[in-house]
Amino acid sequence: MFLVLGLILASVLFVGLLIYQLKFKHVMEVTRDLGSAPTWPVAGHAFHFIGRPPHEMLLKLRHFVDTYAKKQTVKVWLGPELNIVMSNPKDVEAVLGTHRFIDKASEYKVLEPWLKQGLLISRGRKWQNRRKIITPTFHFKILEQFVDIFERESRKLLQNLDRECQQQAQAGFDLSDWISLLTMDIICETAMGVSINAQTNVDSDYVCAVKTISMVLHKRMFNIFYRFDLVYMLTPLARAERQALKVLHNFTEKIIVQRREELLCANSSTAEVVTQSTDDTDVGAKRKMAFLDILLQSKIDDKPLTNMDIREEVDTFMYEGHDTLASAITFFFYNIALYPECQRKCVEEIVSVLGNDRETPVTYDLLNKLHYVDLCIKETLRMYPSVPLLGRKVLQECEINGKIIPAGTNIGICPLFLGRREDLFSEPNTFKPERFDVVTSAEKLNPYAYIPFSAGPRNCIGQKFAILEIKAIAANVLRHYEIEFVGNAEEPPVLIAELILRTKDPLMFKLKERVI
Ligand code: HEM
Repeated sequence: MFLVLGLILASVLFVGLLIYQLKFKHVMEVTRDLGSAPTWPVAGHAFHFIGRPPHEMLLKLRHFVDTYAKKQTVKVWLGPELNIVMSNPKDVEAVLGTHRFIDKASEYKVLEPWLKQGLLISRGRKWQNRRKIITPTFHFKILEQFVDIFERESRKLLQNLDRECQQQAQAGFDLSDWISLLTMDIICETAMGVSINAQTNVDSDYVCAVKTISMVLHKRMFNIFYRFDLVYMLTPLARAERQALKVLHNFTEKIIVQRREELLCANSSTAEVVTQSTDDTDVGAKRKMAFLDILLQSKIDDKPLTNMDIREEVDTFMYEGHDTLASAITFFFYNIALYPECQRKCVEEIVSVLGNDRETPVTYDLLNKLHYVDLCIKETLRMYPSVPLLGRKVLQECEINGKIIPAGTNIGICPLFLGRREDLFSEPNTFKPERFDVVTSAEKLNPYAYIPFSAGPRNCIGQKFAILEIKAIAANVLRHYEIEFVGNAEEPPVLIAELILRTKDPLMFKLKERVI
């Protein structure tokens, strides 16, 4: 009896393996020359990642790239899914620089319940049409208005920091919590025209829902079982996600409906409208709107966008314009805390541009004069790009610089690894802002080696907005405080490559009132 059962099982396994081999025979053949760590049948390299803590996964990927890559390309099989990580700037250019590979990799699927088919994830004509109507939102005239919001909200940050300063213990405090609330306030007001007062109302439903979604995305990224929708749907995490999504979607929808009515009533296309306050998440103010207004007034194929169309774009902005910035700003402060000479130069420049009066508000023109601060931001994003991994899906078999890439493959490009390559950036683990100075630097930068905002047609649409916001916050914080890192400066932080770059342990800082 057992013998028969055993034979049946072995036959099923054998036939299964045979089908698997046949199905992937072609893929294996054409990618045979690409580098790869030893694989297991069926599981591929998955066992290297299952059950590992998130920071070890990044180290493992780095190990694969460093040890097994051929022609700077390495294969990573996650079960039946083939991922090819490319590290040669020429390959990066071939992938990012054209319209041929604009489809996103499977990893982005975890964002779909929240962002639906917003600009970050959408493809084809939909993406092209949306990109066309959203691009004017970042015209400098519009960015100019947003600086008032950066100024006002970063002053609120100072009040919170002031309180932290009074209470700070020997171990310092985690600056990123406050920064994250600040970036949430800013993106909400610039994208939707409403203030959620995240910095003063940390427990509001909306703020909690955003935090829940960040936690969900983190867990789904790193637990392979959560990637299977059917399994995931039955977990408490999925329930928490559904509840958070309800809050997030209802909130955005309410704002869109309200704003549509206001525009209809005002029968005007101008941006400034005074609204009534109804609750704590809907604080009325003289608001300057651009993003939502442009979408409400836009047409594609002569048809206005529906509330759902607009919601997916507004939600995409909420996602892309919040955590990315919080990560960048936190690493910026970390770097200049570690390099006091760079901090001194930043402050010197800020004071020379804005003057000695710390109450002088930042403006668009003044921020544009902060050249050295700009170099420090660029250098921070080289070492700690907020989006550490980019992924594209190849829909049809193709050739990239002599390498055959089968249909269905995910291509991974890692701005984090590229930015730390010695052959591309001298002393890659040292913070050297001057390397980005076109006037003084001898280093010739390869545009496809430095890609914190990606590159090509699907690059970051909010790049200028982001740099301006970081500068405004840096200028206001550094005028008030000296920043000191609390911890071992010799030991680089252990990184986790979620959708957004984070550290395993919080970066702790001490602030001291600055005398200028
Ligand atoms: C330091 C801050 C930021 C960094 C490092 C950053 C980086 C990136 C990167 C690398 C991409 C490409 C993603 C991919 O191909 O998978 C991207 C796309 C995008 N970013 Fe940003 N981003 C930042 C801030 C912002 C802000 C402030 C906004 C909006 C206000 C924004 C909106 C977007 C959108 C909508 C896309 C999708 C563009 C498309 O596919 O056409 N980003 N960003």
